[in-house]
Amino acid sequence: MRPKRHFMMTHAITADPILEFAADVRAGLTKPDQKELPSKYLYDSVGSGLFEVISVLPEYGLTRADERILRTHASEIVDRVPRPVVVAELGSGSGKKTRWILEALCRLQHTSYCPIEISRAALAMCARELGDIESVSIVGFEREYLDGLLEVAARRQKHQHLMVLFLGSTIGNFDRTAGERFLKEVRRILEPGDSLLLGTDLLKPIHQLIRAYDDPLGVTSAFNLHLLARVNRELDADFYLSRFEHVGFYHKAARSVELHIRSRDSQAVSIPAADLTVSFDAGETNWTESCHKYASEEVRHLAKQAGFYCNAQWIDREWPFAENLLIAE
Ligand code: TRP
Repeated sequence: MRPKRHFMMTHAITADPILEFAADVRAGLTKPDQKELPSKYLYDSVGSGLFEVISVLPEYGLTRADERILRTHASEIVDRVPRPVVVAELGSGSGKKTRWILEALCRLQHTSYCPIEISRAALAMCARELGDIESVSIVGFEREYLDGLLEVAARRQKHQHLMVLFLGSTIGNFDRTAGERFLKEVRRILEPGDSLLLGTDLLKPIHQLIRAYDDPLGVTSAFNLHLLARVNRELDADFYLSRFEHVGFYHKAARSVELHIRSRDSQAVSIPAADLTVSFDAGETNWTESCHKYASEEVRHLAKQAGFYCNAQWIDREWPFAENLLIAE
């Protein structure tokens, strides 16, 4: 096997990640109405490990549906994409799902794969996971999605198209308006003929959705509460984890599952590194994440609004989830 070169582009000026974390926690916990803890901080090495476990829970079918579609239809997907193509992935995670697409593409062309991730640990994991595929060069970008995508787009050669992967229904973490805005921003970076493979979790019975985000074993609860443990560890806070609980409920009007951390009693917590003491009423919640669910025709409409044409949709039979191949118009 040929040795592979993969390397990472990191910030030229690296802001102190702890200071950034402290500032975000402070901003979220001092919001006047609903307190918030930003969900992107769930994914350190503990969180990423817990999420790997969530993705194999019988109640959480999302990741397996995503993987099943990519595994089964990878050749068909890449056949529909204008080539030659450079692949950019927004939030690569472990990179496991991407293997099928890259392997299918490599039968047709040498492929540059550019994962874009704020988590250096995830980038490293992804390079390890995919580094063995013949004819793939991996260049990781430790960046926010749009900054990274701008950089990948600027580096491509004239004759190369871009194929952007945005898998796992991460789009669902935006509300509908912000999701559309995000797709428009992605579209603005792309040229006509570039493509976006977009994963979207679909609407399904509410009891099934609730169980997916509040599993009986408590892994999702541990995942969510681990955010408090991380604030304790990295910002010297004194959250007493057993005085908080994980809550997941369905928001009918928004068509989303809302994830919160609820204070079981009235209490104060100090977070010295964020220069903050924060009090919680009994029953008060911190919002961590929303997971919006779509109807398949709604995704086609959304794509159109954002300047894409929906070339094809694959829907999993076991767990309603759609992989949407959008081509920039
Ligand atoms: N955002 C992902 C999703 O919509 C990941 C996720 C699953 C998640 N369970 C969670 C995020 C619990 C926060 C809390 O499925």
